[in-house]
Amino acid sequence: MSKELRNLFETSKHYSIKWEKYFEIYDDIFSKFRGKKITFVEIGILNGGSLKIWREYFGPDARVIGIDLNPECKQFEGNGVEIVIGNQSDPIFWDEFFKKYGKVDIILDDGGHTNLDQITTTIKSIENINNDGILLIEDTSTSYVSEYNSNPKYSFINFCKKTVDDLNYTFPFEKKKKFNFSLNKYIYSIQFYESIVVFKVNRNRTRTNKIITNKGINSGIRDFFMKGNEIYLEKYQSIFNKISFVRLTKFKKKLKNFLNTNKIKNYFN
Ligand SMILES: C[S@@+](CC[C@H](N)C(=O)[O-])C[C@H]1O[C@@H](n2cnc3c(N)ncnc32)[C@H](O)[C@@H]1O
Repeated sequence: MSKELRNLFETSKHYSIKWEKYFEIYDDIFSKFRGKKITFVEIGILNGGSLKIWREYFGPDARVIGIDLNPECKQFEGNGVEIVIGNQSDPIFWDEFFKKYGKVDIILDDGGHTNLDQITTTIKSIENINNDGILLIEDTSTSYVSEYNSNPKYSFINFCKKTVDDLNYTFPFEKKKKFNFSLNKYIYSIQFYESIVVFKVNRNRTRTNKIITNKGINSGIRDFFMKGNEIYLEKYQSIFNKISFVRLTKFKKKLKNFLNTNKIKNYFN
């Protein structure tokens, strides 16, 4: 299927710039929307090439909208493509955009690629994406390039890592800190590819999780929870024998944490 998308790219009459491996990712994420009545938005028009590709790829029922800061891009309007001139790093632009066009199904960000562009686009558009919709931000490797990234601490990728933590903090057992800013009401999945991040939106799938059981036979089998991490302590039995019972539990816990951390810490380098 990505061959087909690639073919649309290669035969388009309008110039387009894309990274070669992106076509496989587009197909992973977008193929289920083909032939459907969806609204697709691409930020970053330049010579209009990619919009023509999407127009054909998604089929006649799709509404295809391009956004660019450069007013010259207006010339690519027509033949089933709508063009909006605006600045993706301006929150007011997004408010006006969604007021006029309503909720959308897919937003593909191939615009300015700075932290401010990518983060503003994410925080303003997520709540305006329909259930089962997608926000795909590309060229996220700009997070590692100083020209795009005025302060690495606040890079787009760091924002995504924080969003991954936030997503996990929704788990009911997890009582750790909550963030003041959260998109947890909308995002149920975040997918990372080389230089692409995909946010999947569905408000029903962000509901609070709960444990469920079935009516099957419970044979009372013991759960060996944590036991596998403790077998390494056996060879220290002679030391344990010398320690008073009162201090033993604390000592064992410390030793276990030390040994287990040593086994994995190299994988963090
Ligand atoms: C990489 S090009 C887009 C390429 C096009 N999607 C293609 O496949 O051929 C990036 C475009 O984003 C536009 N752009 C840059 N900053 C922007 C911003 N803040 N808001 C909207 N568009 C922006 C530029 O004017 C440029 O046309």
